[in-house]
Amino acid sequence: MEKEKQFKYAVSAAGRINLIGEHIDYCGGKVMPAALSLRNTVYIRPNGSDRINLAWTDLPARISLEIGRLNDYRKVKYADYPAGVAYVWQQAGHKLIGCDILQDCAVPFGSGLSSSAAIEVSTMVALATVAGETPDLRQIALLSQKAENEYCGVNCGIMDQFASAMGKKDHAILLDCKTLDYEYIPLDLGDYELVIANCNKPHALVESKYNERRAEVERALELLQQVYPSIGCLADLTPDLFERAKHVLSGKILDRATHVVYECARVAEAAEALKAGNIGRLAQLINASHDSLSKLYEVTGREPDALAYAARTQEGCIASRMIGAGFGGCTISLVEKGRTDAFRENVGRAYREAVGYDASFYDTSIEDGVSITKLS
Ligand code: GLA
Repeated sequence: MEKEKQFKYAVSAAGRINLIGEHIDYCGGKVMPAALSLRNTVYIRPNGSDRINLAWTDLPARISLEIGRLNDYRKVKYADYPAGVAYVWQQAGHKLIGCDILQDCAVPFGSGLSSSAAIEVSTMVALATVAGETPDLRQIALLSQKAENEYCGVNCGIMDQFASAMGKKDHAILLDCKTLDYEYIPLDLGDYELVIANCNKPHALVESKYNERRAEVERALELLQQVYPSIGCLADLTPDLFERAKHVLSGKILDRATHVVYECARVAEAAEALKAGNIGRLAQLINASHDSLSKLYEVTGREPDALAYAARTQEGCIASRMIGAGFGGCTISLVEKGRTDAFRENVGRAYREAVGYDASFYDTSIEDGVSITKLS
């Protein structure tokens, strides 16, 4: 860590889990993410030039960005995300100064734990901090999402960046993705704890499938607006209203919309269950979320299903579901305290037998989203 000490600030931002509320952030729904101890750290110092020099602890690449032409790095591997946030920050009227940046990412890539949001948020906060600004973290979340959407071409919702920027130690965030109102709920799971497992599926084609789902729910919304012209998003529909109008939908479009409407209802109930300490009910809702993502939204696939269902057969495990975009990535499970070692061993074995390779398990905790440390 000698090298890191030569920097002026260490700024980190978190990866995230999501308790419940999957594939509904871009439908105006409420979600319930929490920030992790797995994070991306940006070491930064001013360099007196007109360039942002990028280096990585785990990559040999060294890339220098000219502050005057930040729009030009959209297709540059590794640099596109940092360049995107620098560009969007600058376009929003903020000052950038020449600096050296070392990126150190402890959020596993492609895991569904949002390494990209952690990189975006930490880089943007670092750029602001080194230029003498105290950034507004809500604005950082929105601008990071803008960078991912418009610069990097990934059409994600707001959940990941918001959790990474605004997460609070030992709390879940109940975030309304339509209004951006939010509430912190203590993540007190009683006799249970969360276990995060990665199914390690290689080469998941997440982006194209993700965009396909977005197009499907946009189509569903258009059709439902013929019945309810005043709705602005699918989350505006209660299950009752939806049941009365769903005859205008069919096939996959009906399945996708059914997931969204009922997942929104599950989040509302899950928030109440968590606040009331009713972990049994929360567990049922988490399981129902996975089953709906598997059967109606079709974003799980063989590996996430194998991992979640192997988990649920273990003694002491009352819930398991995939999180994030899906098609691979991680699951969260609610496991009785004191049984997690046996859980990991047994699920690990069952998964290997079902799929042919190993799952990974992470030791992590729920932490604040952003941390800024002055080093020198
Ligand atoms: C990805 C996206 C989020 C959200 C989830 C699914 O993580 O970045 O915006 O849509 O998938 O809930």
